[in-house]
Amino acid sequence: MTMKHFRLAKTSNMMQPDFIFGVATSSYQIEGARNSRLKANWDTFCEKDGTIADNSNGDISCEHIKYWQDDVAIMADIGVDAYRLSLSWCRVMLADGTVNLEGVKFYINLFKALKAQGIKIFVTFYHWDLPEYLESQGGWLNRQTAFEFANYVETITPYISPYVDSFATLNEPFCSAYLGYELGIHAPGYTSQKAGKLAAHHLLLAHGLAMEVLSRLCPTTENGIVLNFSPCYPFTDSNEDAVACRYADEYLNTWYLMPLLEGRYPDIKNLLPDEVQPEIAEGDMAIISAPLDFIGINYYTRKVYQAGNNVLFKEVESNQYAKTAMGWEVVPSAFFDLLTDLNNRFDLPNIYITENGAAFDDEIIDGEVNDLARVDYIDEHLLAVEQAIQHGVPIKGYFVWSLLDNFEWSEGYTKRFGIVHVDYTSQKRTLKHSALSYKALINARNSNQ
Ligand code: NOJ
Repeated sequence: MTMKHFRLAKTSNMMQPDFIFGVATSSYQIEGARNSRLKANWDTFCEKDGTIADNSNGDISCEHIKYWQDDVAIMADIGVDAYRLSLSWCRVMLADGTVNLEGVKFYINLFKALKAQGIKIFVTFYHWDLPEYLESQGGWLNRQTAFEFANYVETITPYISPYVDSFATLNEPFCSAYLGYELGIHAPGYTSQKAGKLAAHHLLLAHGLAMEVLSRLCPTTENGIVLNFSPCYPFTDSNEDAVACRYADEYLNTWYLMPLLEGRYPDIKNLLPDEVQPEIAEGDMAIISAPLDFIGINYYTRKVYQAGNNVLFKEVESNQYAKTAMGWEVVPSAFFDLLTDLNNRFDLPNIYITENGAAFDDEIIDGEVNDLARVDYIDEHLLAVEQAIQHGVPIKGYFVWSLLDNFEWSEGYTKRFGIVHVDYTSQKRTLKHSALSYKALINARNSNQ
């Protein structure tokens, strides 16, 4: 079998012993076992006509709840330093706000097996699967949900913190708020700008409340949040497009970062009509800007914007670069630009690249998946991270999205992001070439020491 190797040099920062190479997944996307947990907002969303490309849902998925030991063995075989996963709020909590011990036991067994393999554990508390009973009370439009989240974190943390190395409160609040409440392409499927901004504020508040809990209950784990960024580029070099591009960046990216680091929303907030402004209670911004041990950055692609009539910015479809199966341009230089730009503009804590990866139309041929395009994607993005470290960005780890092919939200099972192929009929897992290249990279690092 011929296999392409990643090009990170042995002398690079990322090949030093303390840099973390990991893989990531999330609960709703891989677990299955729908009947042993509460109903989630995504279960409801999937029931609606036209929401999911292949009309699927997370009921079965990769059946990770059944095959978790195999999945741990795969991670051990690849040799990853860390595994980033999310807890299913619906599995570990009951509707009365108390703990579901059966659900917690699943994670404790998983954590013990990971520890036995020397794999570090990065837990995210919320990767979009909100209990439906909370969604039906308004979800993130209801300020009370932020307090329910803090209660969930406070209740569960004592059971699991002895095993965990890092806690993230939320994954990509942009997606929960903007895609879920403003564009309507994620659960719960609302389409209101006002709702999007209110949901965002309550998510950030939930994060801040949870950070207080974590700093009290687990002062020794690395505690933070995971944000996604799609760096914005102007369509032309006109002044109008430059301004539109800055607005897009503030609205879509900085909106979720600046409150955390500086206790305020970006300037674009002042351009939003009064009726869209989120209600901010006294003290909220201080709660939201609690100190962070780390920020997780998820990066997949860049976006291009231009000025438009009666709108602050307009997205332009760009075809300048090759695209993944998601239709996302492959632009590793934008990843470098993003990381160095954030480091120049903000006083950043430690950074982990908590997700990076790509969907392609993989095929198993003679028992192998030669996913050269994914190998190239990861290779080029690893080099961009290395370059950013050389420019002073404090990046401590890199997680591939994803360990397994899984339920890609509104794309259902039509998009495969895994470095491990999943046959959804037999549940057979097959390491793609990208997984084998990752394994070779980690092996090379280990023999470096
Ligand atoms: C970000 C999300 O966190 C993850 O759930 C999703 O599958 C990937 N992006 C790919 O779209």
